[in-house]
Order: sequence, then structure tokens, then C-alpha cells
Amino acid sequence: MSTIPAPLPGGNTVLVEIADRVAWVTMNRPEKRNAINPTLSFEMLDVFEALESDARCGVVVLTGAGEAYSSGMDLREYFRATDKLSYDERLKIMRRSALAQWKRLQYYGKPTIAMVNGWCFGGAFNSLIACDLAIAADDATFGLSEINWGIIPAGTVTKAVASVMGQRDAMYYIMTGETFDGRKAAAMGLVNEAVPRAELRPRVQKLAATLLEKNPMALRIAKHATRRVRDMPWEDAEDYLFAKLDQLRFLDPEKGREKGMAQFLDDKSYRPGLAAYRRDSSS
Ligand code: ACO
Repeated sequence: MSTIPAPLPGGNTVLVEIADRVAWVTMNRPEKRNAINPTLSFEMLDVFEALESDARCGVVVLTGAGEAYSSGMDLREYFRATDKLSYDERLKIMRRSALAQWKRLQYYGKPTIAMVNGWCFGGAFNSLIACDLAIAADDATFGLSEINWGIIPAGTVTKAVASVMGQRDAMYYIMTGETFDGRKAAAMGLVNEAVPRAELRPRVQKLAATLLEKNPMALRIAKHATRRVRDMPWEDAEDYLFAKLDQLRFLDPEKGREKGMAQFLDDKSYRPGLAAYRRDSSS
């Protein structure tokens, strides 16, 4: 019996395209430089929920349409419009937005890559940093512009920035609101790499292909563990990681550990130091 694939999620403000098991999720308000309004946030959340259990997708790439990754929170629709609402109504919108912008992404079940194609400001740092990996165009422009209009990078932006950038750099850009380019973002560890614009998509594609070769359950547990152990004492981290290692053996449907050992020790068909085991093999 054949199954009809579910329609791809998304809407007008978020586009989704799946090719070769990579889901390209595009924030799509180019005329507003992909400013994050409630509709875009809610559509993003629906998209992330749907892709997490969609077998057609092995890696998620988040990017923006046109000249921007995202110009941050929509000043009109997230700030001015919600100022009029009751505290409870505002909180409801902000909570849902937090889910879309970082909570759902931080412990997402599949690898995520932010592809920063242009302007990236303020609230856009949430999804950028919540993604596991990030590649930027070397001429992309980043900025923590909140100070320029009299607020602070809130809604976890400051926390996110402090988690990947050094104290001096974080303080400098939060306090001055100066912009910086993709090369500088890579030098500060905000993104993994900056590449010429023409190479951006091919580079992200190649990175996604590398991730698709790895054991999905091992990837899921490895990336969650990397985030969680940061703030754990060493003894707790050791205990947690041993428990996760055991859990992985129990949960992994393809029994990767056994395959990997058999292919290296018995078949001598690959070297784990240099590449991943063959996932299609039954040995
Ligand atoms: N919120 C609401 N609308 C926005 C936003 C935003 N964050 N960013 C851009 N827009 C709108 C503009 O108001 C304009 O709308 P209009 O055509 O109806 O006038 C349209 O998008 C295009 O913007 P321009 O400023 O004309 O585009 P330009 O390419 O010249 O500049 C830039 C792009 C630098 C991104 C500029 O739009 C900008 O500074 N945006 C605000 C960036 C910012 O400070 N973001 C952080 C917000 S704070 C936070 O996220 C918590």
C-alpha cells in the first residue's frame, strides 16, 4: 500500500522546500526584510513541528527570502501593536513566539543549520543561535540594534549572545549597536563559517549532506548533550553522558555502534577516524 505524502507545511510567511532530505525553511516577508511578526512566528512553529516527524526531512536549514535573514522582531506588529493589549494577551503572543524562535529549535530532534544570507538583527539572533550550526555570507550584516532605539536585547537575545560570544565582544556589540559582517561573526564564533555569497547555498548543502551520513539518533543525543552539559558540574556531566550513551544503544533503531564496530574491526571497510560507517549495510 502506498501512502500519500502529507502536504508540506508552511504558509505565506514561511516557505518550505524539501530536496535530497534537506528541508529549506525560508522566512518570507522580503518586503519587510523578514521582520518577525506573530504570523511568521506561528507559521514557523507549525513548520518545525511538522518537519520533526516528517521522514522526508533529515536536516533543517533556516534562511530568509531576499536581502535579509531577518531584521528581527517586527517593531510595528510585535511592539507597537501589542502595547495596547492586556498583559495576559501580550504574554500569550510572546510565549508562542519564544517557542518558534528558540525553545523548539534548541532541542530539536533533527540537525538545524542557520544560513545567514543578509541582514540579521536583534530578535533574529534567537533562531540563529538556537540552530545547531550557522553559515553566513561573508558580506551579511549583523547587529544588536536594540540600544539604537532605546531597549535592551531581551526575550533571551542577550542570553543567547552570551552563550556563543566572548564577554568583551558581546558587551561591545550590545552597548554600541554597531554592525559587523559575516567574517567578523565567524571570527567571534557567532557562526561556524563565512563564505562568499555565491558559495553560501552549496556550502550549506555540503554540510547538510555530511550530517545526513551520520546516525540520526546519535546526532540527536549528541547535540542535545552538548547544550545541556555546558552548565553542568563535571561529575553530573559525566554521569549524564554515560546515561545518554546507554540510552542511545537502547534507542538506536539501526544499531549504529555495532555496525560501526563490525565494519571497522571485522570487515575493515572504513576508518571511523576519517568517515562514518555505511548506514545501508546490514552487518
Ligand atoms: N520591524 C518592522 N518593520 C521593519 C523591520 C522591523 N524590524 N525591519 C524592516 N522593516 C520594514 C521597514 O519599516 C520598511 O517597511 P515599509 O516599506 O512599509 O516602509 C521595510 O521593512 C523595508 O525596510 P527599509 O528600512 O526600507 O530597508 P533597508 O534595506 O533600507 O534597510 C534594515 C534594512 C537595515 C534591516 C532596516 O530596515 C532596519 O534597520 N530595520 C530594523 C532592524 C532592527 O533594529 N531590528 C531589531 C529590532 S529589535 C528586536 O528584534 C528585539
